[in-house]
This record gives sequence, C-alpha cells and structure tokens, in this order.
Amino acid sequence: MRTIIIAANWKMNTTPADAGALAAEIAAATEAPDVTRVICPPYVCLAPVRDALEGTGAAVGAQNVHVLDGGAFTGEISAAMLRGLVTWCIVGHSERRRDQCETDDLVGRKVARCLESGLRPIWCVGEQLDDREAGRAEEVVREQVSRALTAGGLANGELGKSIVIAYEPVWAIGTGRTARGADASAMADAIRGALEANGWTHEQAEAIPVLYGGSVTAASIGEFLAEPAIDGALVGGASLKPAEMAGIVARAATAAQARREAVRQP
Ligand code: 13P
Repeated sequence: MRTIIIAANWKMNTTPADAGALAAEIAAATEAPDVTRVICPPYVCLAPVRDALEGTGAAVGAQNVHVLDGGAFTGEISAAMLRGLVTWCIVGHSERRRDQCETDDLVGRKVARCLESGLRPIWCVGEQLDDREAGRAEEVVREQVSRALTAGGLANGELGKSIVIAYEPVWAIGTGRTARGADASAMADAIRGALEANGWTHEQAEAIPVLYGGSVTAASIGEFLAEPAIDGALVGGASLKPAEMAGIVARAATAAQARREAVRQP
C-alpha cells in the first residue's frame, strides 16, 4: 500500500525570521501518523524550518537542487550542501521549467542526482492548457517521463524506488482552476504506464506515489484523494495557511485510514 504524502511548496515566500514559527504552527495543526508531511521552504529558511520541525514527524524538503555537486555555478545549491538540512527535494517544477528553462533532460539528471545523494525527489510533470485542449495531455506527460528517465539513466525501477511524482497541470497552478479527480487519476495511470514502458516492472511502477498539485485547498483535496491512483498533494498557496493545511492533512488521514481498511477487508 502506498503512503499518502502532503507536501507544502512555499515557493518564494517566508523569511528566516518567520519561517520556523509558521512551520511549527503547521506541524502542530497537522499531526497525523499515517500521513507523510513535507515542508519545502526557500533555501535560506531551511535551517530554521528544520529546527522548528525537530520531533514533529514532519520532514523538510528543498525546492530545487543543482545537477552537479560543486563548481563555478554562481547562485546555485548542490545536493552536498543540502545534507543535514533536508531529506526531500522538489525537482522540475513548472515554474522552473518556465523561468529557468529547465528541460526534461536536466530534470531527469536532477532526479538521478537526488537519488544518488539520498534525497527523495518530488519530480513534477504536467501539461500546458493548449496540450489539454488539443487532447494531448497524457501524451505530453508520458513524453516528459520517458525523456527524463532516459537522461537520468533511470530505466531500472529499483534505482528509482524512492521517487515521488507530482502531476501538476500547468493551467491549474495559482489559477484557482483544478483538474477533475478523474483526469488526475487517468494521468496517474499514464505516468505509471510510462514508467513501465521505460523498463520498470509493473510492481515497481505501481509502488510509486503520484501526487496531484494545482490550487489544492482543504475544500478541493477530497476529490483527488477519492481516487485510489492519487496518493496525496503538492500544495502551493494553501500550504502557507495553517488552517488550510490542517484541513488538507485531516482529509488525507481519513483517506489513509480508509485505504488501510480496504486492504484488510478486500
Ligand atoms: P498552487 O497550489 O498555488 O496552485 O500551486 C501549486 C504548485 O505549484 C505546487 O507545487
């Protein structure tokens, strides 16, 4: 059974002065042993958030990592520098693909770098609105998965078993629009199918958690968690609000319990 994961992507919000208190407040409002909670603040807030989350069961993640471990790359942060600060890392977020021109090749190599460095990558994929309107959404996402797996040398599912994939339709990010639960579920199947098409076994592909991301709130999360193929959410704007996070994680805890019972009584 796959665990349910709720990851908070704080994007370029909070400062070292206030991030620790916000993280502590969210951790206290979201206690749920069956739900994996991850908070991804900006780099400069990682240390205060790590300290604030100590003993809470919530984990810390970075929002990006460089593909190399060091060198002349002004302004960049490597996996080696993240050691001791985070155990998770978002990779290939659509805002980085858009603003930093990250390609599937680079994203795949970053996913591989995370795995080599012992970080759990939250690898983001998702289509643009015109792809969806043209009926190409699944094809585009399958291509994203294939290209990144090839570039990262990840045709062996055993190597990639700690990967988490976040399906984030670009048109649903920061817009208040969300995909339907059924669309997200179909995409999760397409993603796992793409893993299999690239050399993973069926069991390895089925073991990978797929999260939904795109304007998720306490009010909208239920539709996604009602889908057995969806294993949680990557939350943006709402993840800065403790009350929203409390609602999202509470719903996730209910879903985790229902899934556990379904396994016990097939
Ligand atoms: P919003 O929830 O603000 O739409 O952001 C989603 C996202 O990009 C999470 O990574």
